[in-house]
Amino acid sequence: MRKKSVRDVEVEGKRVLMRVDFNVPLENGTVADDTRIRAVLPTLNYLRERGAKVVLMSHLGRPKGQRKPELSLAPVAQRLGELLGVSVAFVQDCIGPEVAAAVERLDPGEVLLLENTRFHPEEEKNCPTFARKLAAVADLYVNDAFGAAHRAHASTVGLTDYLSPCVAGFLIEKELEVLRRLLTLPERPFVVVLGGAKVSDKIGVVENLLNLADKILLGGGLAYTFLKAQGKCIGQSLLDEEHLEAVQEVMAKAQEKGVELLLPVDVMAAQVPEGTRIPQDPEPEGMPHQIVDAAHIPDHWQGLDIGPQTRQQFREAVQGAKTIFWNGPMGVFEWPTFAAGTNAVAKALADSGAKVVVGGGESVAALQQAGVADKMYHICTGGGASLEFLEGRTLPGVEALDNVRPAVAAGNWKMHKTSGEARAFVQVLAPQLTDLKEVEVVLCAPFTALTALAEAVQGTPLKVGAQDLFWQESGAYTGEISPSMLKDAGCTHVIIGHSERRGRFGSYEEFADWNLLEVFGDNDWTVNAKVKAALAAGLRPIVCVGEMLAERERGETDDLIRLQLRRALHGLDAEEAAEVIIAYEPVWAIGTGKVCDAEEANRVIGVIRRTLAELYDQGTAETMRILYGGSIKPENIAGLMAQPEIDGGLVGGASLDPESFRQIIRACE
Ligand code: PGA
Repeated sequence: MRKKSVRDVEVEGKRVLMRVDFNVPLENGTVADDTRIRAVLPTLNYLRERGAKVVLMSHLGRPKGQRKPELSLAPVAQRLGELLGVSVAFVQDCIGPEVAAAVERLDPGEVLLLENTRFHPEEEKNCPTFARKLAAVADLYVNDAFGAAHRAHASTVGLTDYLSPCVAGFLIEKELEVLRRLLTLPERPFVVVLGGAKVSDKIGVVENLLNLADKILLGGGLAYTFLKAQGKCIGQSLLDEEHLEAVQEVMAKAQEKGVELLLPVDVMAAQVPEGTRIPQDPEPEGMPHQIVDAAHIPDHWQGLDIGPQTRQQFREAVQGAKTIFWNGPMGVFEWPTFAAGTNAVAKALADSGAKVVVGGGESVAALQQAGVADKMYHICTGGGASLEFLEGRTLPGVEALDNVRPAVAAGNWKMHKTSGEARAFVQVLAPQLTDLKEVEVVLCAPFTALTALAEAVQGTPLKVGAQDLFWQESGAYTGEISPSMLKDAGCTHVIIGHSERRGRFGSYEEFADWNLLEVFGDNDWTVNAKVKAALAAGLRPIVCVGEMLAERERGETDDLIRLQLRRALHGLDAEEAAEVIIAYEPVWAIGTGKVCDAEEANRVIGVIRRTLAELYDQGTAETMRILYGGSIKPENIAGLMAQPEIDGGLVGGASLDPESFRQIIRACE
């Protein structure tokens, strides 16, 4: 689900509390590198131009809950003022009466910066009382602190409980867009270059990207654990025993998947004097160093950089790549003797002609050292946040923001549950959803349970839907149920054209070979008639579209879905279409346990949204909810919902149990 952005809300005259990442390096009381400040200027200027009163807050360094004058944001206010060309007010706290008074004094278009949020221990503890105090001075919240989005702190997550709306700034949007592309449709070949000291920081990324990358190049301190896992002698080099097994598993998986894992073949090793802190201490003078074979690092030697042969191999490996992601230096680049590897990689990436995305402060510093920062396609302002995202994890600071459309969690009970069972289900589920926000929860029950269910859900946030209807209002249609009969039973929603009801018989033989999935004979035109009838009666249709396995294998998915959609909505104007919920249900994923890959589901739903924009307009397409359905489970719903296009789920099997459905609903929030 896409998150709301500043574009989606009215800001004129509003007091906007904006979380930014002004965690910048300071030297002698001034800002040494203002990259992170410049990164939020687009959002800031957008808000100022529209007459918002902007209140900025950020953390700086790790003051551990104490007021540390050397970590004050005052120098940042100064630098920001220079960049904006106006003076930026500053208050020496981030909560309290002084802050309230300063906000009161703001005119539209003016900017105020609050003091370091981490001067209060409650910030990192995500304390609700503190979060409420932060929120107290504003009308709405904008988060543009990508670098802090992986932290669930009071200023990134907690205060979203006390302010509404909560939206993303342009920087967060941009960063997510670039990173999502790496996880969805990277232009190939896609090469990943990882370095840095810690295996624990990167192993999850290696694992997740094994499914996507063509090659993974490993350097830096973490590479030695990989060499060790191959049985090589690594001397005194960094070893992470704890992750040795995980590393072995990842290497086996890479082999299985045919992903090339490139490790150093030679290294620049040194005899580091005991007690030297790497890299905090300066490079020890006269320290013995030499290039050695990576498989035979002598006993008292420690690998501190990749060697010349490895540099050459890595350079060749990135040539011809279309997309590259780089995080982490190849060695102790802070020490001049061991900077060659990192610099060489920076230059090789710049020369590769690929779209290079770089994350992590050290890699960015190395790029600057090599003078090639401007050759990169994108430099992430958050190293940790980008790694967590590429590991496939959700970012709490992003998750806490408002969804652009209310999500939908629809349970399709199919031919399950009597009236009594339906009532019992509500009795268990409803009390657990009293604080539900922003999710339309619909239980689609068999006809016979609808009335009982509608009674049971009264006073709860749950809604009732049917699984089918007939398009005539009344008449000699034995066995059928009309739209107004569903209304009479208490329904607000109705599933239309579920694949289990659609027939796609080309010939008698195909019909004779029917299975239960195809016997009811709904088709694109009956679906259209039912959608119109439902809307006329004031019922919200949940219209299913999706391809069968053979159609997917023949590469017909997109065309077929476009056709199903055009026919289902035929004759509806934009206003009517906006009422419809679409569910993309690949037939082969329904009830089979084979969930469609989240990125692929997102891609197809993107096709659906584009088709809706073509049929109507962008605005209508943006309001319509498009769900995914097919083997949704509590375990896979978060990954699906993290996709920008997926607005919720149509859930079969996993909606029969109140606990598993509850977890799915919560993941849709
Ligand atoms: P499933 O069913 O979740 O059991 O796969 C989905 C549906 O039929 O809507």
